[in-house]
Formats: sequence, C-alpha cells, structure tokens
Amino acid sequence: MALRNTTEHYGSLSIALHWLMALAIISLYFVGDYMVELTYYDKLYHTLPHLHKSIGVLVGLALVLRLAWLYSHPHPTKLATTPEWQHTLARLGHIGLYVLILALIISGYLISTAKGKGIEVFNWFEIPALLAENAERGEIAGKIHEYSATLLMLLVLVHAGAALLHHFYWKDNTLKRMLGRL
Ligand code: HEM
Ligand code: HEM
Repeated sequence: MALRNTTEHYGSLSIALHWLMALAIISLYFVGDYMVELTYYDKLYHTLPHLHKSIGVLVGLALVLRLAWLYSHPHPTKLATTPEWQHTLARLGHIGLYVLILALIISGYLISTAKGKGIEVFNWFEIPALLAENAERGEIAGKIHEYSATLLMLLVLVHAGAALLHHFYWKDNTLKRMLGRL
C-alpha cells in the first residue's frame, strides 16, 4: 500500500495515524477519568497523570502531522455509493472530531502549566510553560477539558456507529477504505 493518499484510497500514513490516534485517545479518556479520582496516597497518583500528559502531547504532535498531511496531499473523494447528504454530515463530523481533539490538547496544556511548570514528556523532553502561574486559568481549562472529553467520546460513538452502519447495513466500502483493504 502506498504511503500517500490518492483520490480513491487512504495511504498507509493516514490509516496508521487514524487507528493509533483512535486507540490513544480512547485510552486517554479512561485514564483521565480514573486518575482524577485518585488520592495522594495512591501508588498511581503521580504515574497516571505523567502518562496521560506524555501520551496527550504525542497525540498533539500526531494531530499536527495528520492535518499537515491532509492539506498537502490528495484526499479520498466521496464513494459513488454514498449520498451527498451523508458525505456532508461525515465531513462536518470529522471537523468536529479534529476541533475537539485540538481543544483537549490546548486545555490540557493550560491545566498542566497553570502552576508555572513545564510538561515532562516521558522524561524525554520538556514542553515549557509559556504563561505565568494562574490557578484560575487552570480551573477554567479543567472544565473545558472535561466537557470537551465527554463531547468527543459522544461524537466518536456516533462516528464509529456510522462506520459500522456503512459496513454491515449498507454494505459499502467506507470502513474497508479506512482499513486499507480497498
Ligand atoms: C485527546 C486527548 C485527551 C483526552 C481524551 C483527555 C481526557 C481527559 C479526561 C476525561 C480527564 C478527566 C477530567 C475530569 O473528570 O476532570 C482528563 C484530565 C486531565 N488531562 Fe486530559 N485528555 C487528553 C489530553 C490531554 C493533554 C494533551 C494533557 C496535557 C498536556 C492533558 C492533561 C490533563 C490533566 C492535567 C488532567 C487532570 C485535570 C484535573 O486535575 O482536573 N490531557 N483528561
Ligand atoms: C477516538 C476515536 C476516533 C477518532 C478521533 C476518529 C477520527 C476520524 C477522523 C478525523 C476521520 C476523517 C479522516 C480524514 O480526515 O479524512 C476519520 C475517518 C474514518 N473513521 Fe474514524 N475516528 C475514531 C475512531 C473510529 C472507529 C472506532 C471507527 C470504526 C468503527 C472509525 C472509522 C472511520 C472510517 C471508516 C473513516 C473514513 C470515513 C470516510 O472515508 O469518509 N473511526 N476518523
């Protein structure tokens, strides 16, 4: 399979990024939801936020790569079997997914740096805190992060549901194309 997209197929880079990011984002949701309930004496109190932030930053880098790739290469066009309204709805849904992921990365950065400290990514490199310490901004970013995460998961459910409908009910090639089997 070619690395690049064509107007008919997703290339291997788009496919790999789609599934790796889907796995990472769904894991981030459950880890995030679990870790905020931990108390100081819990063994994972420091480990899970460190992992959550490190993987979150990598998802942010992958998002930049994905969008750059999307806008610098051809994009698979509508399948002949897909009605125009479904295609429009799917495109709007995809924009919604990208916007919510971006909101999570930005708000995550703002929560993590609200105490004026940078983000250690896997003890590998550090993202610096660019704004001064501000607890209130951290709180607001926390709320935005929480609501965006919930909305993203709801949209992902609709998105995955639509993909399964295409595959099992309408029996077209939408899912096969994202699995690289077309
Ligand atoms: C798509 C990516 C992400 C998802 C789905 C996600 C999801 C979540 C969820 C569900 C929570 C729990 C929210 C709550 O109930 O209060 C959370 C908390 C948190 N996330 Fe993320 N997150 C993502 C990316 C990031 C990134 C990139 C960072 C930082 C660089 C980050 C930093 C944090 C922090 C610091 C908390 C704890 C917030 C608090 O203590 O109130 N997250 N995340
Ligand atoms: C966190 C989870 C997920 C996210 C954030 C996500 C995001 C996206 C985005 C942004 C696109 C548009 C790609 C482009 O720019 O062309 C896309 C396409 C697609 N996704 Fe997902 N996805 C997720 C999970 C899933 C799951 C679980 C399935 C299948 C059950 C799935 C099936 C598809 C399919 C079939 C396409 C291609 C649609 C088309 O050709 O119009 N996705 N996804």
